[in-house]
Order: sequence, then C-alpha cells, then structure tokens
Amino acid sequence: MLNSEAISPDKIENLQPAQELLGMGRITGLSQEGNLLIVKGEHGILALHKMSEGIIRIKLFPELLTTGNLDMTGTIAVVKEAEHHLPEIQETKETYLWETKHVILDMSKADCSLRFIDKAGNKVADNNLLAWDEKRAVTGTFTVSPEAHYYGLGEKTGFLDKRGERYEMWNSDVFSPHVPETEALYQSIPFLIVHEPHMAYGIFLDNPGRTFFDMRSQKDIYSMQTETGSFDVYFIAGPQIKDVLKRYTLLTGRMQLPPQWALGYHQSRYSYLSQDEVLQLANTFREKDIPCDAIHLDIHHMNEYRVFTFDPVRFPDPLAMTRELRELGIRIVPIVDPGVKEDTHYKIYNEGVEGGRLCLMKDGEPFVGPVWPGPSVFPDFTDDETREWWGDLHRFYMEAGIEGIWNDMNEPAVFGPTMTMDVETVHNNNGRPVSHGAVHNLYGLLMCKATAEGLQRNLDGRRPFVLTRAGYAGIQRYAAVWTGDNRSYWEHMAMSMPMVLNLGLSGVAFAGPDVGGFAFHASGELLARWIQMGALFPFFRNHSEQSSLRQEPWSFGPEIENICRDYIKLRYRLMPLMYSLFKEAAETGMPVIRPLILEYPSDSVVYNLCDQFLLGSHLLAAPVYRPGTTFRAVYLPEGTWYDYWTGERVEGRDSIVAQAPLNIMPLYVKGGAILPQAEPVSSTLMEGNGNLRLDVYCTGSANNIFELYDDDGESYAYEKGKYNLFKLHLLESSEAAEFSIDPAHLGYTGKWMQWTVHFKNLQITEHSQIEGLPDGGTVETDAGVLTLTFPQPKDNVRLRVKINK
Ligand code: NOJ
Repeated sequence: MLNSEAISPDKIENLQPAQELLGMGRITGLSQEGNLLIVKGEHGILALHKMSEGIIRIKLFPELLTTGNLDMTGTIAVVKEAEHHLPEIQETKETYLWETKHVILDMSKADCSLRFIDKAGNKVADNNLLAWDEKRAVTGTFTVSPEAHYYGLGEKTGFLDKRGERYEMWNSDVFSPHVPETEALYQSIPFLIVHEPHMAYGIFLDNPGRTFFDMRSQKDIYSMQTETGSFDVYFIAGPQIKDVLKRYTLLTGRMQLPPQWALGYHQSRYSYLSQDEVLQLANTFREKDIPCDAIHLDIHHMNEYRVFTFDPVRFPDPLAMTRELRELGIRIVPIVDPGVKEDTHYKIYNEGVEGGRLCLMKDGEPFVGPVWPGPSVFPDFTDDETREWWGDLHRFYMEAGIEGIWNDMNEPAVFGPTMTMDVETVHNNNGRPVSHGAVHNLYGLLMCKATAEGLQRNLDGRRPFVLTRAGYAGIQRYAAVWTGDNRSYWEHMAMSMPMVLNLGLSGVAFAGPDVGGFAFHASGELLARWIQMGALFPFFRNHSEQSSLRQEPWSFGPEIENICRDYIKLRYRLMPLMYSLFKEAAETGMPVIRPLILEYPSDSVVYNLCDQFLLGSHLLAAPVYRPGTTFRAVYLPEGTWYDYWTGERVEGRDSIVAQAPLNIMPLYVKGGAILPQAEPVSSTLMEGNGNLRLDVYCTGSANNIFELYDDDGESYAYEKGKYNLFKLHLLESSEAAEFSIDPAHLGYTGKWMQWTVHFKNLQITEHSQIEGLPDGGTVETDAGVLTLTFPQPKDNVRLRVKINK
C-alpha cells in the first residue's frame, strides 16, 4: 500500500523535453504493386491493403524509401486475407483519392495525412499525424468531434464510454484491486470503436507488443502509440456500431459454437481439495435442487503443481470421479497453467527441453521463472510443433473424462518484479525469431489455440470448452474469457458490467467475471445480487479464493440460497434464448449481452449507460449493485416495455423507479419480443419435460423476428445440417396479430415436443377469430391471455396464426 510519500515533491520527475518526431513528409510517389497500394513519402512508406468492403489496412514503414523489403505479415489475430482487386486512384490538386465501396480514402499530398470519407461525402475519420521517434516508437493521432464517444478496447476498468481515459495494452497479472487507474489487465484487445453523431467506425492496431490508447490527453484528439514492432492499423467502416463489429469479427474471427453445458452454471473455488470434496459438492447441488453443469478444479488437483498430473492422494481416481459426476450431470474443468516445473524427473519438462519447445534466453538456455511449482519453464507457443505437442498433452485429461480446460496465468504471469517473462526472451516463431517484448500479448492466445485445437483433435467430435485469463484480438476463436482476480466488492460487481459489455464490443461474446468476487469476503446479500446479474451474463461461474468466506449458493443460509436457486434456474429457463444468442454471436459477432447503445445508437442517454444491459435485443436487466438497496432507477429506451415479473406495461424513453427487494432483479421485456423459455433442468445433460414456452409480447403495432436455434448441444453434427432453426415472426396491426413459425431448417429431432405460445397483452374478445391453428392444437383464454398449444412444427410447414381483433 502506498502512503503520502508517493506524492512528495522530490518524487516528481523532471519533465523531459519533448522528443523530436519524424513523420512521412510529402507524398513523393504512389503506385500499385500486387494487391498493395504503395504511398511513398519523404521519410517512409505506407502500404495499403483493401481487406474487404469497409476494411482498409494501413501499415507504416518508417524511414523505408524503397519497396524492396516490405514485410506485410500480420499477426495471428487476423484471419481475413486481403482482396486482390485494387480500387482506382484519382488525383486532385492537393490529394489522392482511393475509392472503395464504403470508404473513400483521401491522402494529402502535402503531409501524407489521411481522411476517411463515406459515400455521401461526410468525413468519418481523420488521421492527421503518423510520427515516430528515434527508436521508431510510432504515434498515430486522429481528430474527432467534441461529441465523440469511445467503446471496445477489450477488458478495461472504468465505465462503458472510454472518453477521458488512457489505457495500456500489456497483458498483466493484476492481483491488486482493479480500479479506474489500472491501465492494463489480463487481456489486450487494441480495437477501438469511435462513435460520432450519426455514425461509428473502428480502428484496430495490430501490434501485440506494448501499446497505448489515449483518449484523455488532448482535446478532440485520440492517439495510439506503439513501443516496438510495426504500426499496422485497420480502419473499419460502420455506419453503425453493429456494422463495425460485424466487420471486425470478419477480420479477427468469431467464436465457435460452444457446447451447451458451458452455458450452464459453473462452480469453482481455489481450490476444491479432493475427489471426495468434489463429489460431495456435486451431490449437494443435486440435494438442494440447484442447477449446475460444471465444477472447476484449481491448482490443488495437481501433483505439486505439475501440469497434466493429478495429486495421487487427493484425486486417486479421476476417471471414476468424472463418471460419477456425469451421472449427476456435472462436468469437470481443470486448470492448466503454462509454467512447467523445472524438474528433470518430470516427463513434460524433459519433452519440452529435448524437443526444443521452450522459450529461450538469448544465451540459448530456457527462460526460468518462478510460479506455483517453483522455478518453471514456459512452452514457446509461437511454434506450430510446440502447440501441437501441448494440445495433444490434453489427452491426459480427455482420458479422465474431461472436455473443458481452464487456462490461467497465461499472460504469462511470473512471480518477480516485471511480473512476466523477460522481454528479451526469444520466441522461435517457426524459424522467424522474435523477442518476447514484441509479441507478449500473443502468449495467452497462442496457448488457447494450442489447447482448443488439441481438445478438438482428441474429443471424438465433441465440442471443447476453453476458458482463459489472457488474450489478444481474436481470442474469441479459441476461448471464453473470465475477467481475472476481482474482489467481493460491490464496486467490482458494478464494474463487471461495462467490462464485459466492452469485451462484447471487442469481439469477445463469451465472457464473465468471477461471480461473488474472487478475493476478499462476499456477504449473502452481495452473492444474491451478483448471482442475479451473473445469471444473464454469457459466462456464469462462481469462483473464490482460498482465504475468503465460502460462497457456494448455500453458504449464507436459506434466504440467500433460495434467491441463488431461483436465478440459476432462471438461467436454465432462458437457455433456449441464450443458446440462440450464442449461435447468433458465432455467426455474426454480435455480443450475447449488449450495452443499450448497440440497439439504440441515437439515444444519447445510453452513451455511457452501463448499470443495465440487454440480453440479446429485447430483454433488459437492471441489477441492483449496492447494499441495502431495494429500488433503483431504470432507463427504458423508446418503445413499450413490460415488467418481466409483473407484466406491467411501461412506455419507454423515460426512466422509472423499479422496486427491487432482495429477491428481485428488475427485468423488462421490449414490446414485440418473442421470448423462448423451457422448464429448468438441473443440468443441460438432463432431459427436460419437452415443453417449449414462447411468450409473445404484443403491443398493438409490433413487427419482430426471432430466430430460435437448437441442436444436440455437444457435437459438430450441426455443421452437417443436424440442427433446427425456426423463424418466429410477430406482425401486429390494429386489426390483427399474426404470429408465424417458419421452420427454416429442420435437421434434428428436437427436444421440445410440445409448444405453448402465450400472447401477452392481447385482448381477446368474443368476436376474435383464430385462423391457422395446426392439427392437434388447442386454444385457451384465461383473463384475456390467449394460449395456444401444439406439437413441434414439422415438415417445413409454415405455421401461421392470425388473431382477428
Ligand atoms: C489466478 C487466477 O486468476 C485465479 O482464478 C486462480 O484461482 C489462481 N490463479 C490459482 O490458480
């Protein structure tokens, strides 16, 4: 802890005189070479790629004057290849214009500055300076309007809007409390979304070394700085944030559809200490009728912290344990760290050394740093062969009946002053050596790639689950992200909303914090409130540290236990919605939970609103995140909304006071919503009762489509067409409400044999007529609520029910 000495007058450093910076200077030539547009300046070269419509890559080569050795290799973050078709160049007196379908790039002949212009001629982004110092650390600055707001940047502290903030991108193991001035955490996603009035765009700086984003120091300017490596940026057009996100995830990839069990409730503790304790825990979940799909095993499951081992005394028969757990519907997710114990009697260490698979110091000796097992070495995941070796080591866990892995400490964390590997360590990088400092932020992503691919190779066609702490742009392709060592603070519960929402705006749809808080001590009230919120987060795991108060759902007595049970069940009730949203995320890059700005980009009230969020587009959650609080303000954007619990109708574009006793998290459904729900099961492994319930929220004038997706939840058969996709459409006018179910794809038997549709807020009179009810269907009305029940729609028959009012 610091005291006032930290700010004593003699601690203030002498201000260094500003360094001379060099820039591109005048444009001296322009040419097209292969699929590159080359802009030569007086002092350097810019090479431009058109990646796809709406994405332009610009790579700077400071002080390079001939194109002989332009290395356009990008990082593994980018999966999209550049296009071959090059747009024409046009010349005006002062500029060159490069016109693509969505963006016109306007380059000043006088100073090489760049303006990005949309087709209507509006300036979108303005890169007024690219400059470097004598060490070739580059700064790129962009001017913005006074109304600019910023989003994305991955896992950062602070609020949703990053205006006025400055962040560092350097994957860091931060156990100290995460506070607004924490500039770097475990993930580095150097992707910024700039939201200007009427449009948005994105900038992705593909540099896995240390970089900075500064939206604070200069008025109406933001800047990006690199320390090592290249200044390689991608301009990503909008005009809406959703367009930017779709394009960014086209560039860096989207998550694979996870196994459905990974969407269930996960229980963790640092650590459950034995096989017996784990089995007892699982049985307690079942006895107490609390759903749970996974239990995580932290570092104590290992033999003296050697990865890919089980402690023979505490976990004598892991396969027997996983078999017994499977009967209860619970899977095991063990932790795997990158640090391999330096121990000449340990097979993995020897294979690492003998196979030349370790990160080496300049003198050719392995880098050795202390972590849990004491002195440890670190696999060099930049080599394909090492990743394959590491991936296949997971057979050890697969043979014990395990299908999910938790990658921790993969910044990599090393105990010592720099908290990570020596930046001079050399990565072989498939024969193109590179210093650790230049690729630090890739280490976690490459470890997850090795893990995910190894699991995939060894799971006989079942989908793997990988959870990670560290990552870089593109991490969504390999792993879900949890936000590291938070604390059981109300403030950390509140902060996890903007953090996870911005992760979603940075391509990482599958994310969540340690629910209940990792370090320090939860109270029953905090746990209840956090479980309520976490129940709607994409990743839902309760995890806590060894010296903290226990925080399993029953740890604080029956009242809290009941609340936890109800909300964990709510998660399972909403599973059909969740799973459909995960499918949407895997296909389009749209986040599972969304800040309101994503759906209401022109409502300035929501630009920094981050104590409420949307699950998908139509369900709004407003968690209570302060102690002793039984009501809160909720902002409802334009449209009609319904209280999920009471059904009360509220008109939007207004804030209301929601009553929220401890057992209630305010939840609102947007008019027009079609909300699919199922009876909660104790695990996704368990068969449900076969009923699907669709709540259709009529408003009088709705027009909404929801795509309901389902498959077997665990295999890749869906890639071969074994899935069901129903397009549900509600269309309302003053005369009629039409609801149709279009089985757009029927390739899987399905688990919902009986469908029930509740039309909410639809006044049925004796004159009402219902047309199109399928054979075997029944109609009921109860206090004006119309309920239709029918067997699962089949055979590509479009079901259309028209209710004439
Ligand atoms: C650090 C992780 O962030 C935490 O979740 C884990 O419990 C400990 N390492 C011990 O493995």
